[in-house]
Amino acid sequence: MTAPLYRIPGAAMPAVPTPPAPAAAAASAPDAAPRTVSEVLAQAQVEGVIEELERDLIGLAPVKQRIRDIAALLVIDKLRAGFGLQAQTPSLHMCFTGNPGTGKTTVALRMAQILHRLGYVRKGHLVAVTRDDLVGQYIGHTAPKTKDVLKKAMGGVLFIDEAYYLYRPENERDYGQESIEILLQVMENQRDDVVVILAGYKDRMDTFFQSNPGMSSRIAHHLDFPDYAPPELLHIADKMLEQQHYRFGPGSREAFEDYLSRRIAQPHFANARSVRNALERMRLRQATRLFAERDRVLDATALSTLEPQDILACPSARPSRNT
Ligand SMILES: Nc1ncnc2c1ncn2[C@@H]1O[C@H](COP(=O)(O)OP(=O)(O)OP(=O)(O)O)[C@@H](O)[C@H]1O
Ligand SMILES: [Mg+2]
Repeated sequence: MTAPLYRIPGAAMPAVPTPPAPAAAAASAPDAAPRTVSEVLAQAQVEGVIEELERDLIGLAPVKQRIRDIAALLVIDKLRAGFGLQAQTPSLHMCFTGNPGTGKTTVALRMAQILHRLGYVRKGHLVAVTRDDLVGQYIGHTAPKTKDVLKKAMGGVLFIDEAYYLYRPENERDYGQESIEILLQVMENQRDDVVVILAGYKDRMDTFFQSNPGMSSRIAHHLDFPDYAPPELLHIADKMLEQQHYRFGPGSREAFEDYLSRRIAQPHFANARSVRNALERMRLRQATRLFAERDRVLDATALSTLEPQDILACPSARPSRNT
């Protein structure tokens, strides 16, 4: 029996590739097929996105390198297509592993943009889901749920957070398996219209792949997001403050560094997410402090400066989950 094909209703069919223009005509035409890497980059306006990613995201050197490698593959693929050297659409499904707050969602968003600019997805949007969005509670509910999500993701990137929860070996007939089967079909048959990124903790993802070789074999790119070192976390804090027009006042950066060193050692530390949450709390403390000084004339400097007491007042003894 042949497996049913899960084509998403309404999803656009892949565009028919146009034959390459003859070299002489291509050279004179205004929108000539690009012949150099620079031309492809310029035409796709993709360099800006890659530069932005390099600039905005602190650390993540191995991740950035992998993104450059993937971009290189796609650019060369485009140049090859210009010569009629057609190949199968490269498999772009990916797996992002790493601890909470290491930038997986952020990078997935940028990746969607890069794939869009290079013409590998039509729209470039990102649909982020977890098991609950894909798997139903009752018989017959899972297939429509999964297909609905896939329909929304067509032309973009489907980001499945904590993807291993789709597979529950302890339940004999878990509906998650049904969802996985639909995903596998679409990942194979409509890979020119949707890119799937699975995300989660590395060890759990490894176990998931061992039990789901079909999924493992469809993932072409594994990107591992390392935990940030304390100096990187500080740098991330600087960046976040700058973006929000705040700054550390005298002694504040040192106080924050000290706070971070204690926070890292506590449970549920979530890398850059914890930094962001700590800065949010500092902002609140600063507002409370300034609010109390009813008659003080507040200038831009006062309104944007975080003092050491705003940091020292951060509750770090009993952190709540992922703060
Ligand atoms: N390298 C970085 N440089 C600057 N900011 C970062 C970096 N990594 C993450 N952030 C910021 O930290 C926050 C959390 O990042 P993100 O949501 O991408 O992490 P995640 O790995 O998806 O986490 P989770 O597993 O908790 O979903 C975001 O506000 C993001 O902008
Ligand atoms: Mg995330």
